[in-house]
Amino acid sequence: MSTLFPPLTQARIQGMAAYQALCDEAERDYAGYWARLGREYISWKQPFTKSLDDSQAPFFKWFEDGLLNVSYNCLDRHVEAGRGDRTAIIFETDDGQVRNTSYSQLLALTCRLANALKAKGVKKGDRVVIYMPMSVEGVAAMQACARIGATHSVVFGGFSAQSLRDRIQDAGAVALITADEQLRGGKALPLKAIVDDALADGACPTLKDVIVYKRTGGAINWTAHRDHWLHELTEQQPETCEPEWVDAEHPLFLLYTSGSTGKPKGVQHSSGGYLLHAALTTSWTFDLQDSDVFWCTADIGWVTGHSYIAYGPLALGGTELVFEGVPTYPDAGRFWQMIQKHKVTVFYTAPTAIRSLIKAAETTPAVHPKNYDLSSLRILGSVGEPINPAAWLWYYENVGGSRCPIMDTWWQTETGGHMITPLPGVTPQLPGSCTLPFPGIQAAIVDETGHDVPNGQGGILVVKKPWPSMIRTIWGDPERYKKSYFPEELKGYYLAGDGASRAADTGYFTITGRIDDVLNVSGHRMGTMEIESALVSHTELVAEAAVVGRPDDLTGEAICAFVVLKRSRPTGDEAKAIANELRNWVAKEIGPIAKPKEIRFGDNLPKTRSGKIMRRLLRSLAKGEAVTQDTSTLENPAILDQLAKAN
Ligand code: PRX
Repeated sequence: MSTLFPPLTQARIQGMAAYQALCDEAERDYAGYWARLGREYISWKQPFTKSLDDSQAPFFKWFEDGLLNVSYNCLDRHVEAGRGDRTAIIFETDDGQVRNTSYSQLLALTCRLANALKAKGVKKGDRVVIYMPMSVEGVAAMQACARIGATHSVVFGGFSAQSLRDRIQDAGAVALITADEQLRGGKALPLKAIVDDALADGACPTLKDVIVYKRTGGAINWTAHRDHWLHELTEQQPETCEPEWVDAEHPLFLLYTSGSTGKPKGVQHSSGGYLLHAALTTSWTFDLQDSDVFWCTADIGWVTGHSYIAYGPLALGGTELVFEGVPTYPDAGRFWQMIQKHKVTVFYTAPTAIRSLIKAAETTPAVHPKNYDLSSLRILGSVGEPINPAAWLWYYENVGGSRCPIMDTWWQTETGGHMITPLPGVTPQLPGSCTLPFPGIQAAIVDETGHDVPNGQGGILVVKKPWPSMIRTIWGDPERYKKSYFPEELKGYYLAGDGASRAADTGYFTITGRIDDVLNVSGHRMGTMEIESALVSHTELVAEAAVVGRPDDLTGEAICAFVVLKRSRPTGDEAKAIANELRNWVAKEIGPIAKPKEIRFGDNLPKTRSGKIMRRLLRSLAKGEAVTQDTSTLENPAILDQLAKAN
């Protein structure tokens, strides 16, 4: 057995026996287990009488006849319990200013915003797109939607006008909340201008109102009747707003994410089941206590920012840090400096951030974490991509002072919350392994026919039983939901899309990466097809494109595109210039995160005689490996030599 690192000695769930008892309880009475937790963690306006309804599988329902309001659970109930003065959010701006918002204040802001939305005619079931910087107002916007039963869809501020437009159209959104500009790393990014672009030429006829939070005061264009300042709308509104009580299955949000084919899909989440798991995992995985200062560095545009900024910590009445900026500004010691300043106790970030900060500390010793007092930390977390053992160890030793356990949390946009993760107080950790399923989650590894694979071997990661915070459907496309996540050959198991293995001795899970055409670049999920479509939409230049991933020390995976131009194959400076043009094109179509790291030009792509692009060969070429696969079915084997080299 490899070296295991000890769990915390004191935590909410104490010891492996307590963990096992929870797993056994779920095993004995699955619906009853979740019902018990649903009653403990959520305040219901009207209690549910049934926990799981699987009569329409794979369209599962949880706690369906229970009535609740998510924002009531995150805000009012703490104020009613006399905890209104507790700090909900410590907000730090890009340039280091700090503003504390108490639960009472966050409730008041949320209510004003909820009233403003109602005054604009937004009602239960309507979709509202949120395109906001990291801010208290961004969190309040999500809570305000929840309060009136509107379904929000947050779009990450790094997505382009085109991506934003696609999402507004697909969701049929009636209103959008944005900011004039977003400030990150000392630079202002024009959010409102991107919104104007997305809505240009009547592209989004359902969208009636744009609410603009004034962040920087930078110059923006204004469309009368459509655009409204957030502060003007809210200052006219009362500080109270009766919550809209919704049934537990009411869609709390849509969040678009990439699949292996076609356009991004709108993952639909529920209110009751989702909130339960967001709260429960924040409680058990991070052992959140009143004395903690919790910091999740994700953006609210991703699912991590939903579950572990906007909902989980607030549902528990915790105190959390919300950060506007980037880890490298004004220098790469920013995270450590903020942990020191705010006495952060639980810190949750992504492997990519850790790897880039390792690199920075190597070149600039002044930003090494050892220069900061990080003794407040007690638990660390990792999310979004596999964490390589070297980065794990550095994080453990240099950030956690060899004292803090690391929760390597495996989960997805679709799962709503942690699925496989160590628990503090319970699980000895193994660098690079997300260890064991969260109590009640039936994660397993199977072969292509859905049969269990023995420990020690790799296979397909599935979840055998539905769980409360699972995706409910793909917005507007239930067939795609069934096909993507519940393929017939897998016996009704949820297909995660990842490969994994379990250790023969400990049963610990290790994620080996996606088994579909989805890439994970810096913890951002992207479909190869999406990037290919963006490239070929440059109709003037591009005839054909194929995109693959290759391992990258810093970003986990890097995007490598093979492109055939409509004109002859460029070389030298010309190739560089065209590659640059195409990279910028992709940034404009999707967003800067989708820019290929490398573009190679060929006269053709490796294809079978029936015309299918052989991507596995391209993957080898992108990695710089010699092609060892059988190439006898290739129409044009000579092309491999050409594509093996950078331009
Ligand atoms: O491949 C897995 C990887 O990220 C994918 C989910 O991406 P997304 O929906 O964007 O959600 C990211 C935040 C939860 C998974 O299919 N992934 C996520 N966490 C881990 C991981 N891979 C390995 N280890 C993890 N801890």
